[in-house]
Amino acid sequence: MASTLPVLAPPRRFGQTARPDAWWVQPAVTFTILASFVVYATWAAFQNAHYTYGPYLSPFYSPELFGASHHAWFGPQPRWWPGWLPFSPALLILPFPGLFRFTCYYYRGAYYKAFWADPPSCAVGEPRGKSYWGERYLPLILQNAHRFFLYIALIFIFILAYDAVKATWWVDGITGRGEFGIGVGTLVLTANVILLSGYTLGCHSLRHLVGGRKDQLSRHPVQLKCYEGCSKLNRGHMKWAWASLVGVAFTDLYIRLCSMGIWTDWRIL
Ligand code: FES
Repeated sequence: MASTLPVLAPPRRFGQTARPDAWWVQPAVTFTILASFVVYATWAAFQNAHYTYGPYLSPFYSPELFGASHHAWFGPQPRWWPGWLPFSPALLILPFPGLFRFTCYYYRGAYYKAFWADPPSCAVGEPRGKSYWGERYLPLILQNAHRFFLYIALIFIFILAYDAVKATWWVDGITGRGEFGIGVGTLVLTANVILLSGYTLGCHSLRHLVGGRKDQLSRHPVQLKCYEGCSKLNRGHMKWAWASLVGVAFTDLYIRLCSMGIWTDWRIL
């Protein structure tokens, strides 16, 4: 009778690998882009200024629940806001899309490698020689809340789409009369919604939500179509994730620089 002997590979040192390729490039690029985005978004969220221009509203500040601009739903800064905390409309809403991205299945794989080096890449030695705990224990088990942030992200898509429609209506500050018009900013806001929709509608959890509740999907043609659409977007989820991340930051930057008078928003129509 043949017998087998387990062969244990010796533990690798941090960064040790037999891979001949430049495996470190991808985590390094991920680290640079994600860290830059977090720094910029945090800075922009605390500014409480230059987040509107004409009919445009920065996606970092939308929906503006309370605030000084004409986009605010419920008026200016509320009285209950703690005096020790600088007020900004973005602080009320930005945690929701932020947590949606933070708990995204794709981003998790990317930032576990880039920020925690756990492992830095496939078949590369880790800094911690511990056993694998996965996401079944605290704190990482909280990542499973992703599907709840998805529900909120879907609402945000509708709100941002409404912002893009509002970005076609220009009101004269003196006469108060409005007219239809399209500026470069209108196109920027529209592109931002398209990119965010491509990212959100390709969500792994949405795919399960749409297709996972019927035993025979082929008997439900509408649901099948939705499932196929989600699956198609999901195959390019990584690209949608990065494009929408850059897109949302650029949209804020565009409106900010126009509001500061540094960039000119050209009217097309
Ligand atoms: Fe990436 Fe849900 S898996 S957004």
